[in-house]
Amino acid sequence: MQFYDEETTYLAIPGPVPIHPSVYREVSKPIYGHRTPEFRKIVAECIELLKPLFGLRKGLVIILTGSGTSAMDAAVRSFVEPKDKVISFVNGKFSERLAEIAESCGANVFRVDVEWGKAIKPELVEKYLDKHSDAKFITLTHNETSTGVLNPLHKIAKIAQKYSVTVIADGITAVGGTFVKQEEWGVDIEISGSQKCLGIPPGLGFVGLTEKALQMLENKKTYAYYTNLRIYLETWLKKKDFPFTGAVSLIYALHRSLKIIHAEGLENRFRRHAIMAEALREGIKALGLEIFAESGYESPTVTAVRYPKGITDDEFRSLMLKYGILVAGGQAHLKGKIFRIATMNLIGPREILMILSVMEFVLRKLDFKPKESGILAAIEVFRRYGI
Ligand SMILES: Cc1ncc(COP(=O)(O)O)c(C=O)c1O
Repeated sequence: MQFYDEETTYLAIPGPVPIHPSVYREVSKPIYGHRTPEFRKIVAECIELLKPLFGLRKGLVIILTGSGTSAMDAAVRSFVEPKDKVISFVNGKFSERLAEIAESCGANVFRVDVEWGKAIKPELVEKYLDKHSDAKFITLTHNETSTGVLNPLHKIAKIAQKYSVTVIADGITAVGGTFVKQEEWGVDIEISGSQKCLGIPPGLGFVGLTEKALQMLENKKTYAYYTNLRIYLETWLKKKDFPFTGAVSLIYALHRSLKIIHAEGLENRFRRHAIMAEALREGIKALGLEIFAESGYESPTVTAVRYPKGITDDEFRSLMLKYGILVAGGQAHLKGKIFRIATMNLIGPREILMILSVMEFVLRKLDFKPKESGILAAIEVFRRYGI
């Protein structure tokens, strides 16, 4: 028996995430010229609406057409010059990608590996910055989507400031999902993407830049072209325009989604994500499964869960899909060992209870006997928060 198809399946993967119907309508609106005052006005409004999500007042958010990795490429390639010393803290797939991009710029990359699932601690950052006084940059992910770990970026950035090192942080599943305060924390370069916490389809990348980062760009010589942020900045300052054709339909969608985000209020949104993630985790633990992320550093937007003995990735995720929920597996060496569920954008008690009950149904089908009720554990979390 088939119950669901691609259009009716619930997306629990960490991007793309479920999107508000009014955002879909924007994507299907007739497009207009990209070099017009009307379109430029929408872009300018998007930038103003994006800035608080990055914690920027004086800085700027640059929008690129491309997936999140295009923004990672731009953020690294526009600043890092050949032979620059870069310390890359790697505790997952995406922090590894930042290190690889820095290497591809000819930088002198010193890679610090941290066990996947563990957080990058400020003391570790201090230890390496103390040893490498010639370091110019550090790279890390803010929220490591591959493991469900939220790194303590605010504390790490303070240490980087002490050593006058520029932070390049990948906030692709943080921006719009949890607090990001670039100016207050001293994170000069933070990256984001469209299909996660910003609630629109894939295809846009973002780089948040503080005033210091904007000044640094002025004299940078890089080998980037399409992802050279200096070109974007100069065009913006001179013409309030994109250097290349803007992704008109995605910008319409972004504009609408940002209005929805601000109508909810950032604090409310971040609190909602955090509570939903907590309810999900408590429900999962009650079922008898183990959360992959180090305790105290669990992400509010992505939860990674270890498979219990006897449950295979293939069986579990195929059955979850059969019963209407698309769940992500593990990446790289975590393939087959963990699965991942997002709590981003349109997520509330209804989705959490649905995910937990379908999960219990599937686990029972696979002869796993849940320890306790996941639903009751989640309800208890909701009760504690007055939901
Ligand atoms: C933290 C992080 N960085 C980078 C990426 C890559 O983004 P994209 O696949 O949009 O290029 C992702 C996507 O999951 C991500 O979560």
